[in-house]
Amino acid sequence: MEMIKPHGGKLVNRIATERRRNALLQLAERLKPIQVSARTISDIDLIGVGAFSPLTGFLEEHDYSSVVDSMRLTDGTVWSLPITLPVPDKTARQLTVGEQVALVGDEDGVVYAVLDVKSIYEADLRYEALKVFKTGDAAHPGVSRLLSGPSVYVGGPIQVLNRPAPKQFHKHYLDPADTRQYFASRGWKTIVGFQTRNPVHRAHEYIQKCALETVDALFLNPLVGETKADDVPADVRMRSYLALLDNYYPKDRVLLGVFPAAMRYAGPREAVFHALVRKNYGCTHFIVGRDHAGVGDYYGTYEAQELLKTFSGDELGITPLFFEHSFFCNKCGNMATSKTCPHEKSHHLHLSGTKVRAMLKEGLCPPAEFTRREVAEILMEGMRNSGEG
Ligand code: ADX
Repeated sequence: MEMIKPHGGKLVNRIATERRRNALLQLAERLKPIQVSARTISDIDLIGVGAFSPLTGFLEEHDYSSVVDSMRLTDGTVWSLPITLPVPDKTARQLTVGEQVALVGDEDGVVYAVLDVKSIYEADLRYEALKVFKTGDAAHPGVSRLLSGPSVYVGGPIQVLNRPAPKQFHKHYLDPADTRQYFASRGWKTIVGFQTRNPVHRAHEYIQKCALETVDALFLNPLVGETKADDVPADVRMRSYLALLDNYYPKDRVLLGVFPAAMRYAGPREAVFHALVRKNYGCTHFIVGRDHAGVGDYYGTYEAQELLKTFSGDELGITPLFFEHSFFCNKCGNMATSKTCPHEKSHHLHLSGTKVRAMLKEGLCPPAEFTRREVAEILMEGMRNSGEG
């Protein structure tokens, strides 16, 4: 069986070859610089390695409008989140369509990419928020980020000249070409991708393992880019994933690789995006549980699943695996969902994120039915070290 095709048919590669890179680095010295944040640098890198295939750069106006309005690029390909380059007015006014610009890290001065300016346009940020996040509420972390940024976007293809270096966990930074090769080398035909921005608690473990009962392998692909301040930091999570995998997962059926993207908190639309991106990494299946990529009460529990169901199998290419809200049932003595457990809610263990954080802060270990002890210990240590404890 052939490996699953990337979205759009071909794995994009916008990393400049060594020769081209040297020429472009020289050229970049004479180009106008656009300062880019860590978050944009992660977009640049993910476009570069083809994780965002078929995108070859930041969205031009026609594709932007089409994505915002109908979750498709103008050629009809499904694409649910606008990947854009917002530029301050003053900088934008100095740019002309047709020129090349250098995308330069605002903290380190590194030239990450050269962009061919194809489109400079004014975005209606409020409209974008309402369409993409389904709310204009500035208390929503994605909306607040969007509305506080510039409203002029610059679009066009990029060529990547430098890549951000991981600070830790180097061997878990795998590009789509690497994971595809790895899956093929292991002979895995069906691989389920798992997105998370949290520690893997028992509910996550349960749905992963339910999926693992039917597919060849699990690609645990935690998002480690920018997240909101009260999410558990990526380095602490990484330690907890490693401990969990070491103790509770079959070594020959799991790959842990990070997804160095920023979290958008766009719920349903982000679930579609997460699925398409995991297809680019070579996954054939993708887990979508309760309130995927949600925050607060902005999205319905199964809204992400409902949205995914509106696309045909051919359009998505990757098969979403839907799971209901899962919990530990004291009567069953098992993890379960309403599909498998007949008991009253009072028998189910429910702990809110806030409650768990409070317990961890106090150095209290949440019950093993909620989270594995090895994971809890790492989270408690993480809290102590961050001075939160
Ligand atoms: S996310 O923002 O990255 O989606 P999280 O790390 O909480 O958040 O979830 C990862 C995946 O597990 C998502 O698909 C989510 O829907 C699913 N999930 C999380 N908790 C549960 C649960 N208790 N029951 C079922 N699915 C869940």
